Amino acid sequence: MSVNTEYVWFITGANRGIGLELTKQLLQSPSNAVLAACRNPGQATALQALVPASNGRLHVLPLDVTDRQFVRDAREAATAILGDKGIDYLINNAAINLREWDSAFTLEPDVMQQVFETNVVGPAYITQVFLPLVEKSEKKTVVNVSSELGRFNADFGTRSTSYSIAKAGLNMLTYKQQKERPDIIFISLCPGWLRTDMGGQEAPDDVSVGVEGVIKTVVGLTPADSGKFFNSKGQSLSW
Ligand SMILES: NC(=O)c1ccc[n+]([C@@H]2O[C@H](COP(=O)([O-])OP(=O)(O)OC[C@H]3O[C@@H](n4cnc5c(N)ncnc54)[C@H](OP(=O)(O)O)[C@@H]3O)[C@@H](O)[C@H]2O)c1
Repeated sequence: MSVNTEYVWFITGANRGIGLELTKQLLQSPSNAVLAACRNPGQATALQALVPASNGRLHVLPLDVTDRQFVRDAREAATAILGDKGIDYLINNAAINLREWDSAFTLEPDVMQQVFETNVVGPAYITQVFLPLVEKSEKKTVVNVSSELGRFNADFGTRSTSYSIAKAGLNMLTYKQQKERPDIIFISLCPGWLRTDMGGQEAPDDVSVGVEGVIKTVVGLTPADSGKFFNSKGQSLSW
């Protein structure tokens, strides 16, 4: 198999929410092919429904981001699909926020560990394993989907503590990645508060609005942007 589009995107957690919307919007341009990873392709009805009209530009891959063997198998599957091509944009999007109201003194250690495993260890290992494919591409860009909840000095009070700590950790991962590999663009990006299962229905913006901004921000990146934290308006944020 091979892919003939100009750009290749690899997205984790592509079966719903922001990952699904990213996939939908990216497929609107014939320049893009998407390798859409999700835990259960057989149950990813909305994602699978996009395949027939994609003219071979959408490939759905199984991937649990917490399972190391799954990650390595997904790299092999991606390599088989891509032939000589690489991955221009690796989007570490999958994440969990299991206890929206946990605080420093109510958090459950096992839950915190699970959140850290999914939101930090998963993206770190995926990027390690997929690096050869990113290196082969033209754009060489890795996006760690983060959150303003992981920022210092952002006033979100005591809630979502495990999630916030994990996103702060993910931001440090971006910083470390960029320090080690200045030839690749690594950014953290907060998509904004959007109406998804995680964002809830009270979020101010439809997921399509935030994702439009995410895509515009990501495709506009230059090497000088590496190691920074952005919002979906393309503005650089303090850590
Ligand atoms: N929505 C917001 O307001 C908001 C704000 C700031 C940042 N974010 C960030 O944006 C990203 C996407 O959020 P969202 O709102 O789209 O969340 P969502 O609607 O809850 O979707 C989360 C996605 O992550 C996947 N996922 C979770 N654990 C996984 C695992 N172990 N392996 C593979 N996939 C896994 C889920 O797959 P399953 O269906 O299999 O569970 C689902 O596809 C996250 O990084 C989140 O932190 C969101």
